[in-house]
Amino acid sequence: MREINLTTKIAVYPLGECSETEKNLIEAAKEATINSYAPYSGFKVGAAVLLENGEIISGNNQENAAYPSGLCAERVTVFFANATRPGQRIEAIAVAAWHNGRFTDDAITPCGGCRQVLLETENRFNAPMKILMYGNEAVYVLKSAKDLLPLSFGDEMLK
Ligand code: THU
Repeated sequence: MREINLTTKIAVYPLGECSETEKNLIEAAKEATINSYAPYSGFKVGAAVLLENGEIISGNNQENAAYPSGLCAERVTVFFANATRPGQRIEAIAVAAWHNGRFTDDAITPCGGCRQVLLETENRFNAPMKILMYGNEAVYVLKSAKDLLPLSFGDEMLK
């Protein structure tokens, strides 16, 4: 028997130490929570992506009375960006969540399904996507979607 140890390096920043570009993207994600449609969970998530042309696209979670029919903020945003700006690489994504009348203290981390989609998006453009997860207490920063999903299943396995 042998063991494999997987480690992930997470950079933890106070918002004030983020770059201007990062702060702008986080601000767009925070603003995007306003238009979230979350009558069932009350958990309003916003996401914003930075495209290689410098444009910022934002989106939010959209829920449904038939629960599984809703979609997370990350996927709404990434799919919309890819659908309307084809070929534009996504350089970074920021995520923030508004709950119980305030932004969460803990950094908001994407669900499993979104991690898979972020990884595919990164692979598709063959370059790492920075992930910024906002919380009032700290911003978690990952250099690549791969860091969100150890032992991932990707297109390379289908070759
Ligand atoms: N949600 C997101 O939009 N993104 C996440 O990273 C986590 C969860 C949404 C899904 C659902 O509408 C609500 O938050 C509660 O799970």
